[in-house]
Amino acid sequence: MKSCQCIGIEREFNAEDAENELAAYREQGPSKTTQILIDALTEQGVEGRTLLDIGGGVGAIQHALLGAGAATATAVEASTAFARAAEDQARELGRSEQVEVRHGDFVELADTVPQHDIVTLDRVICCYDDMKSLVGLSATRARKLYGVVYPRDDWWAKLVARLGNFFFWITRNPFRVFVHPEAAVQRILDQAGLERVFYKRTFIWRVAVYARKS
Ligand SMILES: C[S@@+](CC[C@H](N)C(=O)[O-])C[C@H]1O[C@@H](n2cnc3c(N)ncnc32)[C@H](O)[C@@H]1O
Repeated sequence: MKSCQCIGIEREFNAEDAENELAAYREQGPSKTTQILIDALTEQGVEGRTLLDIGGGVGAIQHALLGAGAATATAVEASTAFARAAEDQARELGRSEQVEVRHGDFVELADTVPQHDIVTLDRVICCYDDMKSLVGLSATRARKLYGVVYPRDDWWAKLVARLGNFFFWITRNPFRVFVHPEAAVQRILDQAGLERVFYKRTFIWRVAVYARKS
């Protein structure tokens, strides 16, 4: 992977982190915002549909939607450790046939990733510098639904991100977090022909589902 941010991603989302996340997921299930996204997608209908889960971590959305009747899931995951954890979890649940895990930066791989019925990016946009490419390219891969979780762009969220990035800088970690403007994300999805059908704000996150305009 060429991008500097992906080098940071490999360092930040490392083997120890993946092991802890997988253990937490196996014990407690999806996080609160992930569950909100899962419920909103399920409400729109996932039966028989294919899922592309970009930056899906250990695979919480993949297994929830497959459990709800989705046909297959493809994960594109930039972290080697999390790609392995997602494969482990699919094997553990006997779903290796239904789940394909690809390791790499989605923006670099986009040309080789076919369209899927549902595309999800759960807390991924904030880990990537080139939001326009990530959101723009992923939107073109969504045939029916597009689900996203990303941070609120209030002043205090930007301040927290700055403090976090200062910490990464002094610890010589190339990883950075990004609070991209909501209006810019919304504009890209609108131009891609997607219409917002679900929206919820939590203290930190925005959870939204878009449907392709007919
Ligand atoms: C904060 S974690 C969220 C993981 C999971 N979606 C969740 O909500 O628990 C962000 C994940 O996105 C992945 N990621 C970030 N940018 C990516 C990109 N351009 N392509 C693929 N994966 C990416 C990271 O490797 C990491 O696993």
